[in-house]
Amino acid sequence: MENKTEEDKVSIIKVSALTCIDLDNSNLHQSAVLLKQACLDSGFFYVINHGISEELKDEAFEQSKKFFALPLEEKMKVLRNEKYRGYAPFHDSLLDPKNQFRDVLPGWRETMEKYYQEALRVCKSIARIMALALDLDVDYFNTPEMLGNPIADMVLFHYEGKSDPSKGIYACGAHSDFGMMSLLATDGVMGLQICKDKDVMPQKWEYIPSLKGAYIVNLGDLLERWNNGYFKSTLHRVLGNGQDRYSIPFFLKPSHDCIIECLPNCQSENNLPNDQMFNVHLPTLQSSTCTPKTDLGEVWSMCTTP
Ligand code: OGA
Ligand code: NI
Repeated sequence: MENKTEEDKVSIIKVSALTCIDLDNSNLHQSAVLLKQACLDSGFFYVINHGISEELKDEAFEQSKKFFALPLEEKMKVLRNEKYRGYAPFHDSLLDPKNQFRDVLPGWRETMEKYYQEALRVCKSIARIMALALDLDVDYFNTPEMLGNPIADMVLFHYEGKSDPSKGIYACGAHSDFGMMSLLATDGVMGLQICKDKDVMPQKWEYIPSLKGAYIVNLGDLLERWNNGYFKSTLHRVLGNGQDRYSIPFFLKPSHDCIIECLPNCQSENNLPNDQMFNVHLPTLQSSTCTPKTDLGEVWSMCTTP
């Protein structure tokens, strides 16, 4: 009999369904109730009726596939710079502070910029529901200091090969995302797993299936900090199953000059804010890289702000 580790057995069995948030629902308060439950339960949810056309998404994936299929020397023309924008075949960095487009493929830049704007729009709609879920004004995050001039990184991932958890080889190692929230599109190939409670040992990993037409959204560390740990950012990872897998995560962060203060309603006698967590300026928190470690992949990323 095949010798499976405990971890393999658990991860093969468990597949989780997530709450669906319908962005077309005009009853935002109803959505906020659902969102709050999802945030308390797993920190992951789907969004549907987001208005990003399937066409645009397919185009972004097509371009992504074409890009990663280019000869290495072509991809190296847009090599990642010190701000982690551009292409990375492995862990390295190089020097150019601009987004790394150049004319690698016809229509490439237009597609990516269009998709980027659409993803940002969807994240801003989710932020309105998030505000209500936190008992804040619906436009609480919609101010110049918060999401007026947001920082957002969009990443194209291409994973190939098979993970081997016993050797610590993952398509994307266990991590939580840094920002406020992440909007994830995948090509449908299974691989994403979440661990709802990182402190329970052995850790239990559950697969999150892709849902056609939906995006997967998860909360980041910054939101956890902002709301004083009320909603947690959840540990997740990606296992490679041998098939090629493409994904496009989009990581939303607030404006550069946003000062992270404990959100109203997120403190109580039993949960006093830890001073060290607050009154911090976003750039001081920024990790050097926004993309997690990948053992089996290549990435290309872009960002809005200088
Ligand atoms: C990430 C991430 C998941 C995926 O990049 O932070 O979790 O499916 N990606 O690529
Ligand atoms: Ni992630």
